[in-house]
Formats: sequence, C-alpha cells, structure tokens
Amino acid sequence: MDKKNKRNLKFDTLCLHAGHDVFETNSIVPPIYQSVAYPYESAEYAAKLYNYEIEGFTYGRMDNPTSRIFEDRLAALELSEKSLLASSGMAAEFIACVGLLEKNDEFVSSGTTYGGTNQLFTVTFPKFGMNPRLVYNPENIDNWAEAITNKTKFLFIETPSNPNLFIGDIEALAKLAHDHGLPLIVDNTIGSPALQQPVKFGADIMVHSGTKYLSGNSTCISGAIVGKGEYIDHIKATEYRNIGPAISPFNSWLLLLGVETLGLRMKKHSENAQAVAEFLEGHSKVVSVNYPGLQNHPQHELAKKQMKGFSALLSFVTKGQLEDAKNVIDAFNLFIHAGHLGTSVSLATHPAFSTHQQITQEERIKLGIPDTMIRLSIGLEDINDLIEDIDQALSRIS
Ligand SMILES: Cc1ncc(COP(=O)(O)O)c(C=O)c1O
Repeated sequence: MDKKNKRNLKFDTLCLHAGHDVFETNSIVPPIYQSVAYPYESAEYAAKLYNYEIEGFTYGRMDNPTSRIFEDRLAALELSEKSLLASSGMAAEFIACVGLLEKNDEFVSSGTTYGGTNQLFTVTFPKFGMNPRLVYNPENIDNWAEAITNKTKFLFIETPSNPNLFIGDIEALAKLAHDHGLPLIVDNTIGSPALQQPVKFGADIMVHSGTKYLSGNSTCISGAIVGKGEYIDHIKATEYRNIGPAISPFNSWLLLLGVETLGLRMKKHSENAQAVAEFLEGHSKVVSVNYPGLQNHPQHELAKKQMKGFSALLSFVTKGQLEDAKNVIDAFNLFIHAGHLGTSVSLATHPAFSTHQQITQEERIKLGIPDTMIRLSIGLEDINDLIEDIDQALSRIS
C-alpha cells in the first residue's frame, strides 16, 4: 500500500487514515496547528503560493494544516477531489452557492430544506440580487424542469430533508441539471458519506453541516463544501478568501476525532431509528411517521437505491392539538429537548417553534410541518430505554 496515497482504502479505514501521514507529523493523532501564519521558503515560493500555482499554506483565513487533513479525508469519503471547511454549515452553504452566482442570477432549490437554509435562500440571497426558485412538490422532476430559466446557475437539494425526511432523486436531478449545463448541489448532512455518496449518482457539489454526524458528539459548529478541484480552488480564491468564514483549527481537530467512528455510528443510529420508527408507526397516539426506512414512506424505494442506511432523523405527528405535542416534548426523561440533531445522545425538537420558527405558519403547512410535529434525532443509547421513554411521554396525550 502506498503510504501517501490512501485513496484506495475502504470507507472505515479512510475515516481513520485519509489525509494524515503519521511519519510526516510524527504523531499518531493529527496535531492541532494553532497558527495563523506559515513561513514562506522564498519570495518566489510566496508568489506562486498566492497565485495558486502550488499547494501550501498562505494565511489562516484561507488554509490550515489541521483543517487540510480533514479536508483531504472528507474529499476521500465523498469520492471527490477536494473539500473546504467552513465555520458552520450555513457558512459552507453560503460560500458554495455564492461562488456560482452573480447579481440577477437564479437557482432552483427544493422547498423542503432546513429552516436556516430556507431563510438564507429567501431572505439573505435576494438582498444581493440572487434569487431562488423553490420547488414545493420536489418529487415531481417536471416541477424542477419548469423552474429552470436562462438565469439558473445550479440546482440544490437537501436529501434526506430536515425535518420531514423527503428523499430527493439525486440521479434524476443530476441528469436534469447536466442537460442544462448546470451543477447539482446536495446537502448531505443527514445521510453523511457513510450512508450516501451523492457523487455515485452524478452530484457535483456536496455541502455539510459538520456540526452534526461528521463530528458526532456536539462539540463543534462546522461546515464543509466538497467537489471538483477546480471549483474548490475557485471559491477558495474568491468568496471564501473575501468573506472569511474559516473554521478554527481546534474545531477541525474535533472533526478529525469524530469522523473516526462515522461508519460505526451511522450504522447504530440507523438501526435504532428504524426500531423507533416502527414502534411509533403502530402507536395509538401517533397520526403519522416520516422515516425513509418505513415501507410506507413515499420514497422508500428511492432511499433504498441511494442510501446504505436511513440515518437517525425522523419526525412524527401526534394526535391532538399543539398543547399535546408540547406536553410530549416536556415529558421526555432521556430525550433532550434541544435544537440540534445528529449527535450521540437522543434529542427531541418541536420544528414549528424552533428550527422552522422563522418560516410563516402558512408556509410550514405547505412544507408539511404541522404544529403537532415532533422531530427526533435518535442517538446511540440502548433501544429499549429509548422506546420506554417515548412511550411514557406519549401517554401524556389523553
Ligand atoms: C440539513 C442541514 N443543513 C445545514 C444546516 C446548518 O448547519 P449549521 O448549524 O452547522 O450552520 C443544518 C442545521 O441544522 C441542517 O440540518
């Protein structure tokens, strides 16, 4: 095996070794390079570095050796050429999109995204003259085709989506995008590369909230963009450099520790979530359950085709009114009520009043997020303890 080029290794081995050469750093654990500047060998070297003619480290806002290890590792896990870390998932999305847009350009996105993404697209981007066209029935590819104009610069899909677990057809969307000469961006936060590698289905660019499964235990806000070398070099030399959303080296190091167990965690998360979804499906206090691993999920077959497991996020609608959903949330003993997902402990959230609270109620209904929806992020605990906690919380509904 070539010690430097580890790209041929299997997924779980890449999670531990890609991007890091223990003999180069003389350390089994990748070191934290807590430095904002790096000495240049010569004036000639510096000039080439700043002109992106050679790979190296210029200044901490642009690059960092600890971050580079994770960037190389994530690129390997996503079967892509390069990646770029950012200070948050939102920062990564902003840079990934803005790097493809000019004033008066448009892009097409599924309406079923995380609330923060919805606000970035519908409130922030229009301020810069960059306009989204949201597709509200994204399962119908014709709706995407109709939204494309001669101003469109890319298509964007979050799959699985937060919080209603819509599954976008990556292959069909990539084909549509490519037929129009456009790239497809996939938010791969919920699947993570352990369960879904969108490149296999033709996607061009992946964005991540590293805050979730990639780091895995709620220790760092972080984000990443993954794609072709030319595209990553372009955004790095322009918007990333000009805006300054760099990640801290310590957070890159936390990502490196977390990603070591990504494959193991995603398998266990998926097993636990499947069991919870099946339990909820048969519960008398539950109206409906959204989980792609369930046979009756509208895109179950598609999820099976493009995912290796169905991840840990699920949502369900309780019987009764808003007050009943609130009572359930307050009754949890083990599930922690917090606006977060994708971590080792189980979490419960009330999307209408937290993650999707900025969206109007009318829009939420359109997006399939009723006030009685509860979102669960299933952790790595013993499944019997989780089910017992859910059952006792649901018993608060009369
Ligand atoms: C699917 C998805 N993408 C992006 C984000 C934004 O990530 P961050 O909170 O790291 O900025 C989130 C946050 O919950 C998310 O769920």
